[in-house]
Amino acid sequence: MKAYEKLLLENKAWAHEKVADDPEYFQRLSGLQTPEFLWIGCSDSRVPANEITNTQPGEIFVHRNIANMVIHTDVNLLSVLEYAVAHLKVKHVIVCGHYGCGGVKAAMTNHDFKQVLNMWLRNIKDVYRLHRSELDGITDEEKRADRLVELNVREQVQHLAKTSIIQRAWKNEQRPDLHGWVYGLKDGIINPVFEMKAGTHIDPLYEYDDL
Ligand code: CO
Repeated sequence: MKAYEKLLLENKAWAHEKVADDPEYFQRLSGLQTPEFLWIGCSDSRVPANEITNTQPGEIFVHRNIANMVIHTDVNLLSVLEYAVAHLKVKHVIVCGHYGCGGVKAAMTNHDFKQVLNMWLRNIKDVYRLHRSELDGITDEEKRADRLVELNVREQVQHLAKTSIIQRAWKNEQRPDLHGWVYGLKDGIINPVFEMKAGTHIDPLYEYDDL
């Protein structure tokens, strides 16, 4: 059997098992999704949102990219954010990074990953530059990378707060709260590192006054 055929076979087994446990399972889920959470995570295969939070289909709306970035010109991310916040009306947006992130480590090298990846990683290098004095002071390379993972999550949460999508929801509906988390590949534990409650004021340069 080809590797991808095993996925289809496992899918059938899973669907049968779900229905055996709960005959209405798919009927109920196909009718409506009302997730409370938007998850912005890393594409890394070891950080599956549902599995590490022990949640079910229907509970978390998910966007993933390399190193869980919130880039203000990324139409994909912004579409997901707009839909989750304005239409699904999620109560929490979680940016979840992870220690040992390959994207973050790559951004700390001087290697040419070719244009499209260079472009993406450049955004992480910018976070390094903002925190250069702290990061340069950490001699252990792994610890330095892990600290950049934490700072990067914090920065991406702040990027969310700079969007009119979040600011409009904060003004009109006092939601969602924003959370920055870091998952540990070595112990499976999520470490909350940053939070912005709905309505938090940010640098006035980025605040819209006519939403
Ligand atoms: Co990663």
